[in-house]
Amino acid sequence: MNPTSTAQAAAAQSAAAHAPAAGPTAAAQVLPPPPLLSARGLSRRFGPGCDLCIELTGDAGATSRCPACGTVVAVHDVSFDVGAGEVLGIVGESGSGKTTLLSLLHLDTPADAGSMVVDGYGDLLRSRTSDAELRRSAVVMVHQNSLAAGLAPRLAAESNVAERLLRTGCRSFAEARARSQDLLAELGIHPSRHTDPLETFSGGMAQRVQLARALVNPPRVLLLDEPTTGLDPSVQADLLESVQRVTDRLGSATVVVSHDLEVIRILADRVLVIHFGRVVEDGIPEQVFDDPQHPYTQLLVASRLR
Ligand SMILES: Nc1ncnc2c1ncn2[C@@H]1O[C@H](COP(=O)(O)OP(=O)(O)O)[C@@H](O)[C@H]1O
Ligand SMILES: [Mg+2]
Ligand SMILES: [Zn+2]
Repeated sequence: MNPTSTAQAAAAQSAAAHAPAAGPTAAAQVLPPPPLLSARGLSRRFGPGCDLCIELTGDAGATSRCPACGTVVAVHDVSFDVGAGEVLGIVGESGSGKTTLLSLLHLDTPADAGSMVVDGYGDLLRSRTSDAELRRSAVVMVHQNSLAAGLAPRLAAESNVAERLLRTGCRSFAEARARSQDLLAELGIHPSRHTDPLETFSGGMAQRVQLARALVNPPRVLLLDEPTTGLDPSVQADLLESVQRVTDRLGSATVVVSHDLEVIRILADRVLVIHFGRVVEDGIPEQVFDDPQHPYTQLLVASRLR
């Protein structure tokens, strides 16, 4: 074999090894975006704990409470990545560990184990940066109840949003106001309402103001806890559409938790099903909801259809 054909053979072999079927361009296209948020092995128990907690809970024991010591294994060994502009949905029934998981990600509750790497910040669970500083731009939570979220009911809607910008370093009041108005309008609040006090707003509208406040200084990671619970179904769909449009444009990594499969189906690019604090199934929503593999997911889907 002459040197040229050896080189050609090597090149062909290498190309085949790197791009088995579809060629290099197609292979590059299916690569997911680099994650903004990488969670690994997140775990949290409530109680003293014992050697049997993990073995006796979850599917094996059909409970999240350890029968030996009474400890609740609220979240166990949860891992995921979320890329820029991507929405990860987490679905599970009441008590499955959704709020605990979000509170670990928002650093409200310390994790027992695991890591949470946010692009540009390292592992936030071991970070020395203050929580307040992190929440300015790294990780922002939108709560289920907008009144519990630190909004001022007597203040104009746009001032509730602008206040966050001014607190996070924007020096010009006019600029803060203009950016707040733009975002409120994008989220579906008519300009004629921007100066009205928040307390005159419906639940769905107040939720849009909370979202605008969370996003006006775009965070790396946006956490949504049951964002549409308690709202009219028609308002829900419209709100979810606005959320999707804005998160897409801003490129935050979004984690949304809900007990409502429909919310996850509309919003999420990928879904984790959580049961007794463990991930029992994951995939794209169409696949998980149309062809559920785990008995718990099958039950969730069936009860939704009943
Ligand atoms: N502070 C706490 N102390 C003791 N148990 C808790 C605490 N917070 C949550 N739990 C328990 O952890 C489990 C998961 O709760 P939670 O995360 O609120 O579930 P979800 O949001 O899915 O309804 C439940 O069994 C709950 O009772
Ligand atoms: Mg909850
Ligand atoms: Zn135990």
